[in-house]
Amino acid sequence: MSRPYARITGTGHAVPAFAMQNSDFASLGIDTSDAWIRERTGIRQRYIARNGETCVSLAADASRQAMAEAGVTAADIDLIVFGTCSPDKLLPAAGVELQAQLGASKASAFDLNAACTSFVYGLSVGEGFIASGAAKTVLVIGAEKLSGIINWKDRNTCVLFGDGAGAAVLQPTTDQRGIIARFMRSDGNLAKLLYRPKGGSAEPVTPEIIAEGSHLVAMAGRETFKHAVYSMNEALDVALADAGLTGNDIDLLIPHQANLRIIEATAKHGDIPMDKVYVNVDRYGNTSAASVPIALDECMRSGRILPGMTVMMVAFGAGFTWSSAIHRF
Ligand SMILES: CC(C)(COP(=O)(O)OP(=O)(O)OC[C@H]1O[C@@H](n2cnc3c(N)ncnc32)[C@H](O)[C@@H]1OP(=O)(O)O)[C@@H](O)C(=O)NCCC(=O)NCCS
Repeated sequence: MSRPYARITGTGHAVPAFAMQNSDFASLGIDTSDAWIRERTGIRQRYIARNGETCVSLAADASRQAMAEAGVTAADIDLIVFGTCSPDKLLPAAGVELQAQLGASKASAFDLNAACTSFVYGLSVGEGFIASGAAKTVLVIGAEKLSGIINWKDRNTCVLFGDGAGAAVLQPTTDQRGIIARFMRSDGNLAKLLYRPKGGSAEPVTPEIIAEGSHLVAMAGRETFKHAVYSMNEALDVALADAGLTGNDIDLLIPHQANLRIIEATAKHGDIPMDKVYVNVDRYGNTSAASVPIALDECMRSGRILPGMTVMMVAFGAGFTWSSAIHRF
């Protein structure tokens, strides 16, 4: 018998209640402007967690929606793959906290940190468990509370990011729907272009580290931009070739939402017209691991994704890491 395909049977997403506008940075003393942020990134607002909203609480909201959509209960979940680079705690894993909150009593759970690429990596991991028969129902999460790890004094980064969560339920199917191609890659030689320099176990947090902010996200924006475009292009090309498809065959492209200019460059490279590309970076900013699953859920719920469509997801993030997946719905 041929191996089962892993199919997305339900999705969900959640964001905090507070939408922070570009104009709100003035009250934090940040030397920026709505015009600069919109022109360079396409971002107009982002959601910021407050009042007890956390990475895991947002993930739990998104998961419950995804489970309801898939028609499964917490008791059905075999595995939780929790993609994040901003977990509530460094130990134990956010996935285990989610497992407890959902009451997913038979599920194993772990975190996957490929930064902004975590959800798309997570789809491949979930697919592997389903293809091998080791799991039948996998919950793949991309969730972040980046507002807790960004440097609110650094205008190069603080205007870019937002909080949120997305979730997808993966289940086996034999009818040739589901993930038909995937690609994953990394290059740790480029780590210092986007990272948190200190505050890990090698250099635990000290008052000096806190004062200089080197435990927070630092990024070389222009260099990161170039690698993002190059790497997303590669992720697009390899998965398309693997599936025997061209950009013409893609009904909808869901790219990582970091910057409108990166998205447009990726679409152009793949010869995919912008009306087949989903963009919501204007409303959410870069929510890292959450960006692709939030967009995916919006597409599912708004009818942008219909049965029979071929949808490509592509992401790039710190590491660097980059990945893509093609899913036939
Ligand atoms: C960050 C990014 C928007 C900056 O855009 P850019 O066109 O490359 O701009 P630069 O970094 O070259 O900076 C241009 C100028 O704007 C300034 N600037 C940076 N942030 C600013 C802000 N928020 N407001 C106003 N000016 C700002 C810089 O200081 C620089 O000024 P200078 O020329 O006087 O030195 C862009 O590089 C980017 O999107 N990079 C990739 C980000 C990304 O994808 N990260 C996540 C990967 S998952």
